[in-house]
Amino acid sequence: MALTLRSLFFLSTAFGHCSALVGRKTNPSPAAKITVDTSITYQEVDGLGASQAFQRAEDVLGKDGLSPAHQAELLDLLYSVEKGAGFAILRNGIGSSNSSTSNLMNSIEPFSPGSPNARPNYTWDGYDSGQFPLAQQAQARGLPTLYGNAWSAPGYMKTNDDENNGGYLCGVMGEHCASGNWMQAYADYLVQWVKFYEEHGVKVSHLGFLNEPQFAATYAGMLSNGTQAADFIRVLAKTIKAARLDLGITCCDGIGWDDQEAMMAGLQAGPDPAEKYLEVVTGHGYDSAPTYPLSTTRKTWLSEWADLTGDFTPGIFYDVDGPGEGLRWARNVQIAFVNANVSGFLYWIGAENSTTNSGLINLLGDEIVPSKRFWSMAQFSKFARPGARRVEVSSSASLLYTSAFRNKDGTIATQVINNDTTAYDVTLSVKGAKLHSSRVLPYLTDNANNLTALAPVAVGRDGTFQATVPARSLVTFLTS
Ligand SMILES: *[C@@H]1O[C@H](CO)[C@@H](O)[C@H](O)[C@H]1NC(C)=O
Ligand SMILES: *[C@@H]1O[C@H](CO)[C@@H](O)[C@H](O)[C@H]1NC(C)=O
Ligand SMILES: *[C@@H]1O[C@H](CO)[C@@H](O)[C@H](O)[C@H]1NC(C)=O
Ligand SMILES: *[C@@H]1O[C@H](CO)[C@@H](O)[C@H](O)[C@H]1NC(C)=O
Ligand SMILES: *[C@@H]1O[C@H](CO)[C@@H](O)[C@H](O)[C@H]1NC(C)=O
Ligand SMILES: *[C@@H]1O[C@H](CO)[C@@H](O)[C@H](O)[C@H]1NC(C)=O
Ligand SMILES: *[C@@H]1O[C@H](CO)[C@@H](O)[C@H](O)[C@H]1NC(C)=O
Repeated sequence: MALTLRSLFFLSTAFGHCSALVGRKTNPSPAAKITVDTSITYQEVDGLGASQAFQRAEDVLGKDGLSPAHQAELLDLLYSVEKGAGFAILRNGIGSSNSSTSNLMNSIEPFSPGSPNARPNYTWDGYDSGQFPLAQQAQARGLPTLYGNAWSAPGYMKTNDDENNGGYLCGVMGEHCASGNWMQAYADYLVQWVKFYEEHGVKVSHLGFLNEPQFAATYAGMLSNGTQAADFIRVLAKTIKAARLDLGITCCDGIGWDDQEAMMAGLQAGPDPAEKYLEVVTGHGYDSAPTYPLSTTRKTWLSEWADLTGDFTPGIFYDVDGPGEGLRWARNVQIAFVNANVSGFLYWIGAENSTTNSGLINLLGDEIVPSKRFWSMAQFSKFARPGARRVEVSSSASLLYTSAFRNKDGTIATQVINNDTTAYDVTLSVKGAKLHSSRVLPYLTDNANNLTALAPVAVGRDGTFQATVPARSLVTFLTS
């Protein structure tokens, strides 16, 4: 805990002295040239974030002993751009369960009203498995994007009469149920969830209705191919329009990037392609990573990914290139933005009480233990803000990986990942933008640093400056 506070202290003393860039050098570092060209622009950024579904929101709200003061500190760490990572996207699960025992997310209509045309019996508990108060806290800290995402329709709307174990929504192409066609009822139900949030002061910006529809999980989930998703999207779009909600539809949170790509043809087919009703195409990174742009003109998000293989890896930025290490995840984020053209990147869980790497921050009783994955994501989230555009950047060194973003306020954030065993002396030039400040602010994460604000660097009138990027590190340079 004290260490977390220490890195936050460094953040608040951005101009304090730091030795990391001026350490004694025995061997001269190789030189490299990095050029940012802000006149070449790519996709818009919506932001980074995570979910607290399946009652992980309750972990943040103190279920495992986090004190109120540390709850506030954790929320700042996640959602405040001044005090933490400034995560911009929160993915809330729209529950399909008839109770909230174990880690289930309870539904707003836990029991069947009898038939698809019967008057629905909605219920609102103001809590939503902890996710509603969490969303209030996140929005109070500036969170712009709240993504409501159902893993499944309630069981009574599905072919298998069960929220778990796969099954299809009754009424999509090829799937019929004795109880009738539940597509309109499901659309009404999802819109009602959004209305409950909004009636109680929490704006929902995006709505999704599937999670990993290729996979019949033992927990909540629902199967669908692209054509079947398209059938429902057309109904949902009409329902949202009639409700006059300003709400973007997402689809389909495929298990891996390739799975999502495979759904695109169905979303694009027919005389009334469903793709045009989508605001964001969402895919996960598990079976296949986001390394190429999906075949769509819509925005895309990597909407869930995590290391699910091993024990919690907190303090390692680089050791053996393990699956939970910080450098690996920094590179995953960078590749998603640069090579896969995503506008959003969501890790699976933000903070939780867990023995694995499924979250970014571990909660041990009253202790907050951020992983290096968290700091790696913060190096992007804190500086490439919603509304920013990714811009062109190139590097002369093959082991210095780069990305760059121009924010709406004119600041430019350049991330440099050094995956070499040696530091580099970098000459970085920013072209195409007039810089107003003569100082660049570098921030460093490596094995020894967690988003440490380094001493400012002077930048010339031509937009060029010199800096050292340590071995196995990530440095974000913020120019303004
Ligand atoms: C609640 O849902 C579970 C899991 O789908 C199911 O086994 C159980 O029968 C349901 N309970 C009621 C009262 O419907
Ligand atoms: C509506 O649902 C609630 C539980 O969510 C239940 O207690 C109530 O009896 C239901 N009302 C009707 C008319 O079915
Ligand atoms: C989706 O499944 C339906 C029902 O089996 C089938 O008719 C349709 O061709 C499938 N669509 C795609 C794109 O595979
Ligand atoms: C990148 O995404 C944007 C939408 O944000 C889209 O307009 C553009 O065509 C995409 N570029 C590529 C190469 O897919
Ligand atoms: C950085 O965070 C890691 C993981 O929580 C921790 O082990 C380490 O001590 C922290 N280092 C500093 C300098 O705060
Ligand atoms: C970093 O370099 C090591 C070799 O030194 C390699 O095994 C690893 O895959 C690289 N990591 C990334 C994310 O490129
Ligand atoms: C979860 O929190 C409890 C305190 O309630 C703590 O004893 C335990 O170590 C934590 N477990 C994990 C896996 O973080």
